[in-house]
Amino acid sequence: MSDLSNKHIVLGLSGGIACYKAAELCRALVKAGATVQVVMTEAAAQFITPVTLQALSNRTVYVSQWDAREPNNMAHINLSREADAIVVAPASADFMAKLLHGRADDLLSLMCLARPIDRVPLILAPAMNREMWQHPATQRNMAQLTADGAYVLDVGQGEQACGETGDGRMLEPEEILEGLIAFFQPKVLAGQHVLVTAGPTYEAMDPVRGITNLSSGKMGFSIARAACEAGAEVILVAGPVHLPTPRGVLRVNVRSALEMQAAVAKHVGAASVFVATAAVADWRVADVAGQKIKKDDSGQLPQLNFVENPDILAGVAQSARAKSGALYCVGFAAESHDLLKHATAKRERKGVPLLVGNIGPATFGLDDNALLLVDAQGSQELPRASKLTLARQLVDEISRRLEKV
Ligand code: CTP
Repeated sequence: MSDLSNKHIVLGLSGGIACYKAAELCRALVKAGATVQVVMTEAAAQFITPVTLQALSNRTVYVSQWDAREPNNMAHINLSREADAIVVAPASADFMAKLLHGRADDLLSLMCLARPIDRVPLILAPAMNREMWQHPATQRNMAQLTADGAYVLDVGQGEQACGETGDGRMLEPEEILEGLIAFFQPKVLAGQHVLVTAGPTYEAMDPVRGITNLSSGKMGFSIARAACEAGAEVILVAGPVHLPTPRGVLRVNVRSALEMQAAVAKHVGAASVFVATAAVADWRVADVAGQKIKKDDSGQLPQLNFVENPDILAGVAQSARAKSGALYCVGFAAESHDLLKHATAKRERKGVPLLVGNIGPATFGLDDNALLLVDAQGSQELPRASKLTLARQLVDEISRRLEKV
């Protein structure tokens, strides 16, 4: 199932150069399964034509409140009643100022004012020059619009069409899409603080070589994203992977198991849920060479000695907060065979209430997986699906177990 299937989005464009990004956004919304009804202001139509947006949305575009196509001539009522959300992207400084005052002199602002406020959320993606963005009037308007129930997305940072650099440009279409998908997820972890470890660790042998593993980090990053979508504050302690940080998640990059343990120790005190998905190296090299180990002609092979790394999850699970139920710990197990048997044994060995097993080597780096949840009550399969879908299901399962703690 697509992330926005069954959702009907009214996409509003107010005037600004970021209108060119709204075309991509429209396409991304449709690809995510939504139906999209575009409404543009006269100013927006100066930047991009209704024809483009009609072709992308597969629906005629509305611009004027005097549009006679609607039998009752009330486009503002009809369009807003059908919507699961009105998304204004770009939302110009002028348009936001207008919304703030409840003005309604064009179809888009009229429709925003006429929407059933309890049922149809209004989501704004601001776009403007950095000086306009920083202006006290804009900041004040944004705060008031938020207080009035609008959901205002962040702005991007960087080069602007005017040649200046700073805050105020509209988020990229993919980021707005991600924000919108998150908006619609049930907030089952609201108020929770979730700490996630993800990816492999890298244990150095010398300054240029090291030992690592094939963990891609995708499952852990998906869980961090799903927890954030579910309303939690999320910190993601990530080993060396090149995955983008999910929106709204605070990422702490680490390399070795010891660094990961230190980062976890720093943040676990504020956490109410700890999900350890990282494939932590079991051993590290005992005496890391300060200089590159060189090959010589003696034929002698370098000798590596190992010491065991701390078990981060088991250590956290032993803490007083975990034992008292203030911190809910979830472990992962990547096994190659006998999943239920190994996952059950590992749950007890690690001392965690919930252990999530998967067949590791077959899924490393892939976008989908299948999970086996093992807790004190027994086991439950989450059948093969995308890692993000599974992460959302797991977040839901965790939230149910939190209710019982
Ligand atoms: N884990 C950890 N710190 C370690 C090793 C593992 O926090 N040093 C966590 C992993 O993040 C995962 C769980 O413990 O949640 C299981 O990891 P795994 O490597 O499968 O378990 P091991 O105890 O190493 O068992 P084995 O290698 O025998 O399968």
